[in-house]
Order: sequence, then C-alpha cells, then structure tokens
Amino acid sequence: MLPLRSHSLSLSLKAPAVQALCLQFLSFFIIVFGATILWKTIGWVLPILLLAILQGLVAALLSRRCDLASWWLLIQLLFAPALVIVLGWQLPPWIFLLAFLLMLSLYWSTYRTQVPLYLSGPRVWKAVSELLPARPLRGIDIGSGLGGLVLNLAKRHPESEFYGIELAPLPWLLSLLRARLRSNPAHFLRGDYQLLDLSRFDVVFAYLSPVAMSPLWLKFQAEMPVGSLLISYEFAIEGQTADEMYQPIKDGPYLYVWRKQ
Ligand SMILES: C[S@@+](CC[C@H](N)C(=O)[O-])C[C@H]1O[C@@H](n2cnc3c(N)ncnc32)[C@H](O)[C@@H]1O
Repeated sequence: MLPLRSHSLSLSLKAPAVQALCLQFLSFFIIVFGATILWKTIGWVLPILLLAILQGLVAALLSRRCDLASWWLLIQLLFAPALVIVLGWQLPPWIFLLAFLLMLSLYWSTYRTQVPLYLSGPRVWKAVSELLPARPLRGIDIGSGLGGLVLNLAKRHPESEFYGIELAPLPWLLSLLRARLRSNPAHFLRGDYQLLDLSRFDVVFAYLSPVAMSPLWLKFQAEMPVGSLLISYEFAIEGQTADEMYQPIKDGPYLYVWRKQ
C-alpha cells in the first residue's frame, strides 16, 4: 500500500465553488431585503420566479466583481431560477437526494480541485503505451477516472506495475471492480495524488486541467527520480517546454512529455 500524506482543509475555503455559494447567499439576502422594502413601502409583492431571476443577476454581477471564471457567471445566473422551476414540478424529494448523492460520488472534490471527470480514450492509451521505456517500470495515472488507461497499460505491459489514484469514490470503485472482473493486475487507490509521494514512480500520466498543471510541475521536480517521465494529455505547463509532443488523434489535443533531468 502506498502511503498518503495528511491534508490541509484551508484549500477548500479558497475554492471558487465555495466563493460562488457565499455570493449566492449574499444575493439571496440582498433580494429578500429589497423585496421586503418594496412590499412595506408601496405594497408590491413580486412573483417568486422574478425574485429568483433578480437573485441570479445579482449573484452573477458579484461573481464578476470577485473575478470568478466566466462559466461561474452562467451558473450563478441560472441557479436560483432553475431551482424555482424544478421545485414547481413537485417531484418526490428522494429524487433530489439521489441526484445529489450520484453527483457527489462522481465529482466529490471537483469544487476544490477544479478537475472534473472526463475521459481519454483508446487512441491516447495506445500513444502512451508506445511512449513507455522498454523495461519493467512503475507508472501511475493521477486522477484515474474509470481506470481505462491503467487497465489498458497493465494488460499491454505485464512486466510493469500500474497504479491509478482517484479522489471521487464512484469512479474509483468502478475501476476496482473492472480490474477484479477482468483479473487485471492494475492497482487502484482512493485518495488525493497531491498527498502521494511520487518518488516511487518512473512514469506519471495526468489528464487534469490547466489550474492543476503548475503545482504538478513543482511536485514532479521535487519528488520524481532523474530520468522519470511526466506525461500530460491536453494540458501544457506554462513556461515549461515539453521535451516531446504527440498528437494521438488527428487535429486533437497533444500529449506532452517532460523528462526529469
Ligand atoms: C479528466 S479526468 C481523467 C480520467 C482518466 N485519467 C482518463 O484519462 O480517462 C480527471 C480525474 O481526476 C480526478 N481528480 C482530480 N483531482 C484529483 C486529485 N487531487 N487526486 C486524485 N484524483 C483527482 C477527478 O475526480 C477525475 O476523475
């Protein structure tokens, strides 16, 4: 079993999703305050959907002022009106609980990591496989999703050892089941790769997001042995020219490869 270091919770409070939620609460109180004044002074009672639209507008404006990324503005704008519309359908409450639990188990800490689940595919796996040095090695996919790459590499390279580490419980569990059902020797850990010591690996594969890349570069430099490889699909590292670049899919994203000097 590979050891994981402990984690500071302070990161969670700086997450854009937490800021977005706070701004949504602030907008709610601003709108309630405004609506109460209108009601008390001139007797206007605004319809709930209009109030929700106004709340969305205020939340989006505040988010813009706080420099949240553009997709957050859209989420902030639509959140309250969508909530009012869906509540109007009068669905049984357990549907909301089920949807929440499903999203939670799939996306888990995405609000903090800003790395959601989306998958690479067989052409990328084949390209990664062809990049690997022709000797027994230990490789890991950090953020292994449903385990596709790790299972594929473990099957193609039985002389080597492949790991996947995944934060979200449902993708991790599905990877584990896939390995067991296929008698595949791949290992799947549930946890945060930021807390994993990467010094034991010869190859690290990452398909993450632009925000994750600079911290990953520092980790690669600090922990990985000389001669090891960092491979990133789609996302480059600002200021770090890759040693090699490949395009597994015509006109598609690149695979970037850095070799530790
Ligand atoms: C874009 S998906 C890539 C999936 C897989 N590597 C592939 O190529 O199909 C990124 C995955 O990384 C996971 N993830 C994000 N941050 C993580 C972290 N700090 N530790 C472990 N997994 C993480 C997400 O839950 C998500 O499943």
